[in-house]
Amino acid sequence: MPRTRKKAPPGSEERPVSQVMDDIGQLMEAVLDGMQECIVAIDSRTEVILYNHAAASIFDLPERNPLPRPRLIDVTRDPDINAAFRSVLTSGTPEQRRVEVRRRGMRTFSLNVAPIGPTSPEPGIAGAAGVFFDITEIERLERIRRDFLANLSHELRTPLTAVLASIETLLGGAIEDPANNVRFLEIVQKNALRMQSLVHDLTDLSMIESGEVALNVEAHDLSVIVDEMFTLASLRARSAGVSLENGVTGGFRVVADRHRLEQILDNLIDNAIKFSQPGGRVEVRAGRGEMGASIIRVRDEGAGISATDLPRVFERLFRTDRSRSRVAGGSGLGLAIVKHLALAHGGAVSVESEPSKGSTFIVELPARHELP
Ligand SMILES: Nc1ncnc2c1ncn2[C@@H]1O[C@H](COP(=O)(O)OP(=O)(O)OP(=O)(O)O)[C@@H](O)[C@H]1O
Ligand SMILES: [Mg+2]
Repeated sequence: MPRTRKKAPPGSEERPVSQVMDDIGQLMEAVLDGMQECIVAIDSRTEVILYNHAAASIFDLPERNPLPRPRLIDVTRDPDINAAFRSVLTSGTPEQRRVEVRRRGMRTFSLNVAPIGPTSPEPGIAGAAGVFFDITEIERLERIRRDFLANLSHELRTPLTAVLASIETLLGGAIEDPANNVRFLEIVQKNALRMQSLVHDLTDLSMIESGEVALNVEAHDLSVIVDEMFTLASLRARSAGVSLENGVTGGFRVVADRHRLEQILDNLIDNAIKFSQPGGRVEVRAGRGEMGASIIRVRDEGAGISATDLPRVFERLFRTDRSRSRVAGGSGLGLAIVKHLALAHGGAVSVESEPSKGSTFIVELPARHELP
């Protein structure tokens, strides 16, 4: 029976199926290439039949599918990834595993592989498609959180143990011993003050981080501020046998909240003295960066920081050598506070260091030309 056709509205004329399929293909390609996750599909002979932009960049593949098709193992060069795909090809059930890829630094992925095509009954699997979800950053943050909690309980346990032991000794009779009772009370006071300072720093840090701290940003003469900070640190420097040098040109303009800038400098100068050897020199210098930004450098000739510890020194409560740093005092929050204060000013902080040669901490603060 002849079929009657409604007249198609203008502009919606039917297109050949092949063209529609082409459009869908292009749409799929655009969607896959727009994804951050790497996608790789193989056929039953483990030859790569499809991959997206993200996979091309991780596995160093050409932008379009090359011919002859490469084998998965030649592309990934990773037996773990290969095993995950092979297991899906044989079992027909999806597989999930954590894999590490050593390309452009080490990256960790959660790999989900699913079968393509008929899964049952025979003739078997046509292929498998894998999605690589980059979890490097998630795992890094998780490790920082875990270390922070472990370090925090450690930081609190030490003074708390000293307080409890002193109180126990006093209650056990030492309170009647006029020669020693004050000494035990002093231990209690010293450790309670240490816990108070830790809690104060933690509260300050979380307020700076959440933007609750209002900054009173004004132009200042950096050389004057550094002079004042050096006067405050002179006693510490003298007893450590360290000399202080203000290399900032008189009148050097820096735009910052005065109190917070002092806090940044105090932390960096304090560290520079603490981690110097007797006879060492601590120097503060300043120069101009992009768009007139102030680049402040605090340099020491001390112990330095190893390449493995360097990226972690701005984490809260991180210490390179726990026993040495503890002897030097402090809660291990100084650099985390410096980092967040610099960020709150729209700036940044970084560090360059060579073990046994010394370290340079670099604070960059924007110029803020709109201010007088
Ligand atoms: N100038 C430096 N030279 C060598 N190591 C440093 C230097 N500055 C910081 N570090 C390392 O980084 C760690 C973290 O520094 P941070 O200032 O955050 O903590 P802290 O000085 O130990 O304690 P706080 O600053 O709370 O008094 C230090 O414990 C030390 O291991
Ligand atoms: Mg410090």
